[in-house]
Amino acid sequence: MTILSIETSCDDTSIALIECNQGVCHVLSNIVSSQVKIHAPYGGIVPNLAARAHLKNIEPCLKQALTEAKNPEIDLIATTIGPGLIPSLLVGANFAKALAYRWQKPIVGINHIEGHIYANWINNSEIDFPALCLVVSGGHTQLILMKGHGKYKLIGQTRDDAAGEAFDKVAKLLGLGYPGGPIISQKAKSGNSKEFNLPRPMINSGNFDFSFSGLKTAVLYQVKKHEEKLSDKYIKDMSASFQQAAIDVLISKTTKAAKEYDVKTVMLSGGVAANLELRKQLKESIEKQAKFLMPEIGFCTDNGAMIAMAAFFRRSEKTNYSKIQANANLKLVA
Ligand code: KG4
Ligand code: ZN
Repeated sequence: MTILSIETSCDDTSIALIECNQGVCHVLSNIVSSQVKIHAPYGGIVPNLAARAHLKNIEPCLKQALTEAKNPEIDLIATTIGPGLIPSLLVGANFAKALAYRWQKPIVGINHIEGHIYANWINNSEIDFPALCLVVSGGHTQLILMKGHGKYKLIGQTRDDAAGEAFDKVAKLLGLGYPGGPIISQKAKSGNSKEFNLPRPMINSGNFDFSFSGLKTAVLYQVKKHEEKLSDKYIKDMSASFQQAAIDVLISKTTKAAKEYDVKTVMLSGGVAANLELRKQLKESIEKQAKFLMPEIGFCTDNGAMIAMAAFFRRSEKTNYSKIQANANLKLVA
């Protein structure tokens, strides 16, 4: 079956086509139009500007996605319907509904976090349950236990900032621009992660929740204390020290949760999963106790292919263009 998917929950306009045969899906095309240049001057995403840019970019994305995939017959349309910025989500959902009406195809609404989790299934069907997924994005930091397809139990989450948000805010404090994650990880490569002694919030809290706002504030105090202009060495060392503090907490909680729930597979998802140091260190820690999986870098940050992948597992819920399944919240199980 061939699935066309639309993702416009935040600041990336993305349309993808995937083809699934005998339970394994391959990406035919995955077009992502980034809005970084539009939002960078504001230091963050402006929802109404994001919606306007989606409106402008969505049709060219569709044309390119169909052309790259060689115009296959489409069986199902999928669209993200939450969580995300409402003005942005509405553009994608309405475009998807219009296509479903025009082509008379079924449609399914997908939860964005579920999409991030299912990025791990792209080109891969070998995931054993129970599985644990660490979702680290700009809006979420969650540990989700999966007992089977579509069966989620939230076992821990951030009490304040998301991990990606902390990367973005620390980058701003260091004058590095937006989005922060890629720049911090770049600077950290040649920095000394032991130069600054930063806190590892909630690392011994005895539960699986996270907190990143105190870590960001610790960086703020250090930067304020420093009276001269920040040198390149200072920025590199601070980037490395902050990144390692965040990674230590993420790894500690994930390895403890994997042990407590005796999972067979551990997965990593979301924009922060593109961080090479997190990928390397988490893999090393988990491989001793369970199978470890992470999506290719290009499927970590927001993309349409992950939404199509989640739709493949929700294909039985397909519905008519006039009624998208209300799937905006992850259905959690006890
Ligand atoms: O999943 P995503 O594309 O959008 C949301 O659903 O939020 O994640 C975006 C977040 C941003 O905060 C960005 O700074 C972070 O992912 N990010 C990274 C890296 N690449 C993107 N964080 C750390 N290291 C990276 N290499
Ligand atoms: Zn996302």
